[in-house]
Amino acid sequence: MSTFDLICARRTIRKFRQEPVPHDLLMRTIEAACMAPSAMNRQPLKYALIEEPELCKKVFSLIRFAGSLPAARPTQQEAPTAYIAVLADRNLDTPWLNADVGASVQNILLTALEQGVGGCQLGAIDYEALSALFGLPEHLKLNSIVALGYPAMTAQAVPFAGDTKYYYDEDGAFKVPKRTPQQVLISIK
Ligand SMILES: Cc1cc2nc3c(=O)[nH]c(=O)nc-3n(C[C@H](O)[C@H](O)[C@H](O)COP(=O)(O)O)c2cc1C
Repeated sequence: MSTFDLICARRTIRKFRQEPVPHDLLMRTIEAACMAPSAMNRQPLKYALIEEPELCKKVFSLIRFAGSLPAARPTQQEAPTAYIAVLADRNLDTPWLNADVGASVQNILLTALEQGVGGCQLGAIDYEALSALFGLPEHLKLNSIVALGYPAMTAQAVPFAGDTKYYYDEDGAFKVPKRTPQQVLISIK
């Protein structure tokens, strides 16, 4: 698949089959994260892999999926089977942290997808409890979590028609409205 096709095919996955994601595949996503663009090439991010089932269970209880659509939330039997905690190194402070995170997480998600693994970036997480659970040192600040696993759902992008909220259509298909190039392109002088 071309990079463009992979980018267009990627949708957030929130329900997963209960199969482990191979460690080597997770390591490849970290390698991809390390290759992401970074403001001033400061590379302020660190990552922690969460693969052990008991730890995954604890993480699952401290994150929140699909705030606007309860039916899209995974049950414990549909929970992610791996996580990557994205951590900001306070010793490498940068005003562009969130831009770096975005580039890095997209690399992670696309690299995972190329191998058939879906994912969801999560900002709705219990930062305090997760930081304590991970025993993070003072200089590492939890930024977000990427949930990963083999998809137990499909999702399609549809053109934006007035509402950005994702939804299930009348046939039970999961749809994600996306603004089109025509809707976002602005003419300038
Ligand atoms: C920074 C960031 C934080 C997000 N946090 C959450 C979250 O806490 N829970 C969740 O279910 N999805 C979360 N998402 C996923 C978005 O809801 C999803 O990207 C959006 O609905 C568009 O769907 P798509 O990724 O399939 O294009 C987050 C996405 C980003 C970029």
